[in-house]
Amino acid sequence: MEKYGLNTDCLTLTRFFLSEQHRHPEATGELTQLLNAVVTAVKAIQSAVRRAGVAKLYGLAGNTNVTGDSQKKLDVLSDELFVNMLKSSFTTCVLVSEEDENFIIVDKDRQGKYIVCFDPLDGSSNIDCLVSIGSIWGIWKRKTSEESGEPTMADALQPGNELVCSGYALYGSACMIVLATESGVNGFMYDPSIGEFILTAPDIKVKPRGNIYSINEGYTSGWDDAVKEYIESKKNPTKGKPYGSRYVGSMVADLHRTLIYGGIFLYPATKDAPNGKLRLMYECNPVAYIVEKAGGLASTGSMRVLDIQPKDIHERAPIFIGSRDDVQDVIDIYKKHAEKQQSK
Ligand code: AHM
Ligand code: MG
Repeated sequence: MEKYGLNTDCLTLTRFFLSEQHRHPEATGELTQLLNAVVTAVKAIQSAVRRAGVAKLYGLAGNTNVTGDSQKKLDVLSDELFVNMLKSSFTTCVLVSEEDENFIIVDKDRQGKYIVCFDPLDGSSNIDCLVSIGSIWGIWKRKTSEESGEPTMADALQPGNELVCSGYALYGSACMIVLATESGVNGFMYDPSIGEFILTAPDIKVKPRGNIYSINEGYTSGWDDAVKEYIESKKNPTKGKPYGSRYVGSMVADLHRTLIYGGIFLYPATKDAPNGKLRLMYECNPVAYIVEKAGGLASTGSMRVLDIQPKDIHERAPIFIGSRDDVQDVIDIYKKHAEKQQSK
């Protein structure tokens, strides 16, 4: 198949999902169609990210360039791409974006059965200095019946344990899409020569224990005692080697490394941010679903991230996520501290 330096039978993301669809006779093809829309948005975003400096896409939204065209900041452009591609896929009814205060109800004549929550371009502080950034999305099914009229807030506010599929795209040294469904987690690398995502990392599993911790240590003074104790135990262990420390500051990049190398990523609550920083619906839930499907864990310290019943589309949640045993260590320390508190 690779006689001429080109695989004539490569497994593209679309082919992969068509064959998955075939294994489920009840499938209508709507999810494959939706994912195709996401892939188109991701391709356009990755192309914009790569030529951002040349095309003058950096800086504040609303700028006007020399020819009078309005320039769009990368995150505004990415949001528009996600919204437009998803609306025109005829597969969605509600869209929740980090960039939009309110949830979007898709026009009746273009509605389908899925709800998509997404962060079109995550890692905003890293955009202008060429450090990796990403897109994140979670896909749920509509809860209310179509006959009952327009979808409601209840459709948008579903817990992560109801996710049908979630994924992220990492715009790093290469561009990769990682997708999780009921049947597992698969990674697809972008091949610019043919403009397709090719399955290069089938059935991704995260190591049960890693040796890297990833947290913004600048906020140490704002952490609670459990996080302080955990990080101290990784830096100065009573036995074994200390863990290494890595922190990109783009969740998708930190998460992808955690998935591939193992270890733990932490964005805890702090004194200033009592629920942490990361958003439940389009940051924490999608990655929690991926990591759990890969055999890892995702916790707030006191409960499973996927079991949080959301109350607001933009709410935040603390998150400890990654290798099973590493996250379990944090959960155990939280439990110990809670018991100590109760016995006082
Ligand atoms: P953003 O949505 O404004 O891009 O913020 C989310 C990002 C995450 O990608 C990353 O994990 C986190 O913010 C880093 O925050 P901090 O700079 O506080 O460490
Ligand atoms: Mg974000």
